[in-house]
Amino acid sequence: MWTGSSPYEVLVSCCSGLGPQRKCLRFSGILTCQAGCVLEALSSFVGEQDFVMPLDLGAKGSCHIGGNVATNAGGLRLLRYGPLRGTVLGLEVVLADGTVLDSQAPLRKDNTGYDLKQLFIGSEGTLGVVTAVSILCPRKPSAVNLAFLGCATFPQVLETFQLCRGMLGEVLSAFEFLDSACMKLVQDHLKLTNPIKESPFYILIETSGSSAAHDEEKLHRFLQEVMTSSLVADGTVATEDSKIKALWALRERITEALTHDGCVYKYDLSLPVQHIYQLVEDMQEHLGTRAKNVVGYGHLGDGNLHLNITSPSHDPALLAAIEPYVYEWTARHHGSISAEHGLGLKKRNYVHFSKPAPALRLMWQIKSLLDPRGILNPYKTLPDRASTD
Ligand code: LAC
Ligand code: ZN
Repeated sequence: MWTGSSPYEVLVSCCSGLGPQRKCLRFSGILTCQAGCVLEALSSFVGEQDFVMPLDLGAKGSCHIGGNVATNAGGLRLLRYGPLRGTVLGLEVVLADGTVLDSQAPLRKDNTGYDLKQLFIGSEGTLGVVTAVSILCPRKPSAVNLAFLGCATFPQVLETFQLCRGMLGEVLSAFEFLDSACMKLVQDHLKLTNPIKESPFYILIETSGSSAAHDEEKLHRFLQEVMTSSLVADGTVATEDSKIKALWALRERITEALTHDGCVYKYDLSLPVQHIYQLVEDMQEHLGTRAKNVVGYGHLGDGNLHLNITSPSHDPALLAAIEPYVYEWTARHHGSISAEHGLGLKKRNYVHFSKPAPALRLMWQIKSLLDPRGILNPYKTLPDRASTD
């Protein structure tokens, strides 16, 4: 966990020093740093120059930017700033044969042939080791509002999302959701307080803009609409930092709360947004009393569900009831079995539910070209070879 000490040493040793970094940031918004920089430390560095990192996630206090890039982490603001595949402008990567590949063009546009850095973003360290990153940082918004709302049904959550996109448009920066089971977990295990009336579903809507009066007016008109049309049962709004942080904690700390609930089976799925909660309900029915908790939360604005199932201890029979059921369900609804967490060790042999055989063969060809001896993060990401032949 980053404790607030300076991230600058890492920046200095990586690049041409802090002075040039500040100057580069000021005019281009581009930050170049070593892979070992902690995300929260970088946020604080760029924040001092009036920029923000285009990536934010619950693990910001301990995750490294190199790992974020290697796993193509999504996080809470993808809705606004897009994926790292768009905001990472350059990488320094060490290849399996020791070559240092410098594709650090701190430029917005570079169309000189294949975009090689994309091979390493999301490759989970299987093609090369990311050692430095150039990333495009947006300007820091001067006005941030957060609304925490309660809805009685999931269709109402979806309606609220539709309305929100129309009415908040360009100032919308996050649209997250959690169900009542998640709320209970953060209350029970972390002693957090629900600031509004109990509801089956909760939504976090963040706006970020450059004019407080304009954004507040928009948000209030939107809130009036969702309250009068009874889409939303209750809600609260925060503009001051401490209240914003407390509201975000209810969403960001769900993962932590789950670790206190027993053995956790985790699924990170992309689904057409209209089906996103149907899977949680189907899974609850499918597992019945075999599971302790079946909960759903995630980045609704990105169609990304985090489905988590807990049991008092490791339970092979429960796992056999969940998998491959969850992957078959996802494939039937044209989703992806890994939205933002990657395949790692556990999901790699289920990748055929989301990728066709020719794509998997090509993945192996690329792996063989870049890492013929299989020394880079072995046994991860790629499915067993026999399954692709
Ligand atoms: C989150 C992590 C689990 O969204 O991706 O909280
Ligand atoms: Zn997430």
